[in-house]
Amino acid sequence: MNMTCRQMTPNLGAEITGIDIANLDNKTFDTIYDAFNRHSVVVIRDQNITPEQHVDFSRRFGKLMIHVLKDELLEEHPEVYLISNVVENGKPQGRPNAGQYWHSDLTYEKTPSKGSVMYAVEVPECGGDTMFAHTAAAYDALSEPMKEFLDDKTAIHHFRHAIEKYTKNIPGTAPVPEEALNARPPVEHPVIRMHPETGRKCLFVNPGFTVRIKDLALDESDTILEHLYRHMTKPQFFYRHSWQPRDIVLWDNRSLMHCAVGDYGPEQRRHMHRTTIMDSEAA
Ligand code: OGA
Ligand code: MN
Repeated sequence: MNMTCRQMTPNLGAEITGIDIANLDNKTFDTIYDAFNRHSVVVIRDQNITPEQHVDFSRRFGKLMIHVLKDELLEEHPEVYLISNVVENGKPQGRPNAGQYWHSDLTYEKTPSKGSVMYAVEVPECGGDTMFAHTAAAYDALSEPMKEFLDDKTAIHHFRHAIEKYTKNIPGTAPVPEEALNARPPVEHPVIRMHPETGRKCLFVNPGFTVRIKDLALDESDTILEHLYRHMTKPQFFYRHSWQPRDIVLWDNRSLMHCAVGDYGPEQRRHMHRTTIMDSEAA
């Protein structure tokens, strides 16, 4: 097979063709890893993989994280988190409407995530896209005084924040167990983080999990965050992925935030498998 790598936008996104991720030699993997660092979103279409192969591929990037929502994990492979609106025999097959707000995966963990690998099992005929926004390109485009202001700031991230602010309001979404909410107390991360592999500075705040910038008055924090979110979601920092069945999309949680688009109806089945890689450089 002839491998190709096509860049999709100047700031982010590349599609790799001519590979079979269940059968990768080290050299091909290195090329994927390089594209992951360089383009932040890597699309690999038409992969027919088992959960085990998904987990094996993901492990080559680093240690895997187990999602705090224990009811949404694949029984035989708890590294696989299920995002799904499918109900079989009255039993939900995963978390519906997950991630329908701008966020980066697992920034509420003490050691955040390096990246995620999502596999599309079933997707709507149209709709159910995922949007990505590049946080290094957004950082670069800030003014120097704003970069300086943010440089030594830290922010509080909390799992509960996203659930109370966004998820609770989506009809048909089951409440998150208190036990899971309590299992993840607030954590603190720098507002600007250097990407350990590219050396680029990235904005590391997101509407989903960031509660506030520490040491600022609450209204000051709200105003600055609101400004940053508006800036970070400008179209020039965007890639929008339109899913096909058997797509694998891997994304870098250090240099991106993303948002699932909830524009499809319940009659359209959407069933996704996700693994999440731990950031070995953090903490
Ligand atoms: C998530 C998420 C994206 C999607 O669940 O964290 O971002 O497209 N999902 O389902
Ligand atoms: Mn997500």
